[in-house]
Amino acid sequence: MKFTTALAAASLLISNAFAAPSQVHISLGGSVDESGASSGMYVMWKTDDQPTSTVKYGFSEDDLSNTITGSSKNYLNKHGYHHTALIENLSCDVSKVFYQVGDPADGFSEIFTFKRAPCAKSNTKFSISIFGDMGYLDSDLRPPKIPHGDEPYHGLNKVWSATYSRNMLESLKDNGEIDWVFHVGDIGYVDDSFASAPLKFTYEPVYDGYMSWIQNLTSTMPYMVSPGNHESECHSPICIAQELKYGRHLRNFTAFNERWTMPSKESGGSRDTNMWYSFNYGSVHFVSINTETDWDGAEEQETGDSHIPWLKAGGFGEDGEFLTWLEADLAAAYADKKAGGRKWIIAAGHRPYSTIQEMKIEGLFIKYEVDVYFAGHSHSYSRTTSTTKPVYIVAGGAGCDEMGPSKDDLLLGPVGGDLIESDKYSTGVLDVSDEKLSWRLIDSIDGSVIDSVDIA
Ligand SMILES: [Fe+2]
Repeated sequence: MKFTTALAAASLLISNAFAAPSQVHISLGGSVDESGASSGMYVMWKTDDQPTSTVKYGFSEDDLSNTITGSSKNYLNKHGYHHTALIENLSCDVSKVFYQVGDPADGFSEIFTFKRAPCAKSNTKFSISIFGDMGYLDSDLRPPKIPHGDEPYHGLNKVWSATYSRNMLESLKDNGEIDWVFHVGDIGYVDDSFASAPLKFTYEPVYDGYMSWIQNLTSTMPYMVSPGNHESECHSPICIAQELKYGRHLRNFTAFNERWTMPSKESGGSRDTNMWYSFNYGSVHFVSINTETDWDGAEEQETGDSHIPWLKAGGFGEDGEFLTWLEADLAAAYADKKAGGRKWIIAAGHRPYSTIQEMKIEGLFIKYEVDVYFAGHSHSYSRTTSTTKPVYIVAGGAGCDEMGPSKDDLLLGPVGGDLIESDKYSTGVLDVSDEKLSWRLIDSIDGSVIDSVDIA
């Protein structure tokens, strides 16, 4: 190799190393097809500097001849660029899409694949994993450095693990048991990350770590997310002490809304954010609700999870906009269901039943025949019986540093109803057909089925 060629190759390697795309993840989106399903996929990734946001894609590994250009944002100085591009208008006969992300000058990622959403309202079978409250790694790999006695320090445990659930998700993917993932809030617990390095800025590096840790899932199947209280802000000692440098830029769900793109625009949901949205997939209309802000009494309506006065939060829509949208969205889904369209309506949000009561939307769920409401927040599992709809399922036991018994002050289902409960590390799988919703809760450590139910 000539010296100049070698030098050019070396500089490309250096350049690639600096700008290499990481944290590749996808979510359902784009204009809807004639069945009402997403015709495409948002593709998102991170780079350290700011190359162009380019996706090359095609329908075989050898032909990535289609190119789209997206955009990038830098929401925290010196902490990289988050890219988003949209592949859409995929025809109904497309089964598999091959893609890579990057920049023509700096280079591209490896080639990933995803499946297009089913182009039909019925006769579609698919499976998803649904859970909330999954942290990043475990206390062996990220040991807490704050003072710990026998009791948790401000709710932070000394020993915990999200590794079991992460490994279980990998095995569900490898076995073809899931088509996509719905993480209903509290993604990585990055606001707790200072526990393992109290005086360092850990929020962004740990979020980066979480996103790389799950890339093997998120680059090949949609990873849909709802906002949880742990998405609201950075309130570590350094974020508070250096408010102008960190705290102000990371308040009010910034990282959540800049790193992820959900189909809010497509569904008339929250403007330019992921705070509320809906989408169709096969025989289901899914609604992701906002349990955190934009309704009277919402806990993060004025300030974030720490309630430090200057870390303001809330206000993603006009007064009443979110709940007005929710009713209209459910009413339309119900009309479609009654007209012989989609068979199921599934709502999901971060907080359990007691918040549904506080939001005063329990009546909407009944009126528009929501079949199931999935939540997390309580770091354990509970399910109401399937005799009354909606069935309320809390799947919050994926594992995090706050894992522990159910929060005593939360009502997990209607009073007087029976609850099936578990406090094991667990992940849930929902198998959907036109005939039934089959839910099972899997022990993330040994793979055994802790609970299962058919909802028809
Ligand atoms: Fe939570």
